[in-house]
Amino acid sequence: MATPVVKLMALPVEGKKDEKVVRWLKHYSSAQSILIVGDGDFSFSRALATAFGSGANLVATSLDSYGALICKHHQAESNVRELKKMGATVLHDVDVNNMKLHTCMKMKRFDRIVFNFPHAGFTGQETQLHVINSHKELVRVFFRNASNLLCPDGEVHVSHKTGQPYDRWDIEQLASEYSLVMFEKVGFAKGDYPGYNQKKGDGRKCNRSFPLRNGCTFKFRMARKESEDESAMYCLVAAMAKMSMARAHDNVTM
Ligand SMILES: C[S@@+](CC[C@H](N)C(=O)[O-])C[C@H]1O[C@@H](n2cnc3c(N)ncnc32)[C@H](O)[C@@H]1O
Repeated sequence: MATPVVKLMALPVEGKKDEKVVRWLKHYSSAQSILIVGDGDFSFSRALATAFGSGANLVATSLDSYGALICKHHQAESNVRELKKMGATVLHDVDVNNMKLHTCMKMKRFDRIVFNFPHAGFTGQETQLHVINSHKELVRVFFRNASNLLCPDGEVHVSHKTGQPYDRWDIEQLASEYSLVMFEKVGFAKGDYPGYNQKKGDGRKCNRSFPLRNGCTFKFRMARKESEDESAMYCLVAAMAKMSMARAHDNVTM
């Protein structure tokens, strides 16, 4: 099980050094503004807030209304209560189809936007094409909305099972439709998030967990625009030219 990592970050304040504690849990830190969408019983968000000692930078959301949520998940009520106590913003009825228009999010930008184990519901066998397509559509609209809510250097994280039939969702391709580029794929270990219980979230067994079978966290960033690449290249060439001129000058004056 992962132990939260604590790092001290020194921030200069009016000439003095003020030490601000930054706490980490796996990929996430208390200094990042984090949006969690499609939470199940809010145990993932609670694990982050608990590790950070605060939920102040967290916006935790569910598709379900609060009423539906607490009917589905036994632990949801206490998880939501604790999250709020720790200062997190908890929102319900947040649909990835239109979340960028939500009044609480329209003006916000996030360092991390997280969707763990997206799933569009149990409408057939996971191997059936129409089921795969409905999951793909959910992930596609998530990427579309998330790309509008991301800070310039922010990251979108999707945790997802790998192997068949899950690889057929081709989430890397779906992300690329919105200029999101995968830069890392790391194994997802439930134990990294103490207290987290993954939930099916739909159907008769909605409060049940499901096997995480080779689950991975896929991390995406916005693709750099060509103009940014060009200006980075220009800076590099200019710096190299400056260095070689300085060397030539040193050789002449020695
Ligand atoms: C397999 S469950 C995973 C739940 C949770 N992320 C977890 O890890 O326990 C899939 C989740 O996707 C959510 N979901 C499905 N469609 C959604 C949508 N259009 N917008 C937001 N969430 C959605 C469901 O409400 C459900 O909680």
